[in-house]
Amino acid sequence: MTNIVILTGAGISAESGLGTFRAEDGLWAEHRVEDVATPEGFVKDPALVHRFYNMRRSESTNASSNAAHDALARLEADLVGDVTVVTQNVDDLHERGGSQSIIHMHGSLAGSLCAACEHRWPSPFETAPSDDCPSCGRPQTRPDIVWFGEMPYQMDRIFGLIQEADIFAAIGTSGNVYPAAGFAHEARRSGAHTVELNLEPSLVVNDFVETRFGPATETVPIWVNELLRTGG
Ligand code: APR
Repeated sequence: MTNIVILTGAGISAESGLGTFRAEDGLWAEHRVEDVATPEGFVKDPALVHRFYNMRRSESTNASSNAAHDALARLEADLVGDVTVVTQNVDDLHERGGSQSIIHMHGSLAGSLCAACEHRWPSPFETAPSDDCPSCGRPQTRPDIVWFGEMPYQMDRIFGLIQEADIFAAIGTSGNVYPAAGFAHEARRSGAHTVELNLEPSLVVNDFVETRFGPATETVPIWVNELLRTGG
């Protein structure tokens, strides 16, 4: 039995055509984080925030999973052991690639959240600030996305999984945003083998004992094949 925890970031969806955040032409070059990814930005201009996430939802609906997402699903299905994907991504490409055990620590475009009563429900394709909450009826709908200054989801469960992990991998994430950027350090302290698969070294590359640099659609299937051949 091998326990594997895999943290993914925007880089794993880049070759599906979804922009990353911190590339030169990335999302944070075109939009101000404060405007579209903070509770304060939402209070100031909720219509802008809804438009931003409606656009993200439309892009990710039109995208397809790639060979890296698909390989992780194969790993989960075929490995003798547990594989959990902890993703910072709000797209659903891991689901569409076939992974079953997925934690969306930064929320998901598939969900809406009532800012008044915290009720959650499946998001329609397009949302607007005037949408009523199906539970309390107040028009304070927001996307179920974890913004800067908010606590990521399922942190206790994630740290529990990391403590039990034999292997911790990070794929396509720059190591800029905590707490996710601290997972490798934690995993290594708990005795896991740590491996980074990224286009270039992340900010926390020193927390990994193994590194594999290149496009995820190339590095991830090779890594998965090796794990399945050796049993992890
Ligand atoms: N294959 C592998 N890695 C890639 C590829 C690719 N084809 N393309 C880009 N990358 C790498 C980049 O080199 C970079 O290190 O993916 C990483 C993407 O980094 P970011 O844009 O910072 O995205 P991420 O780490 O997921 O951001 C974390 O920041 O604003 C937030 O909440 C948002 O969840 C997001 C968080």
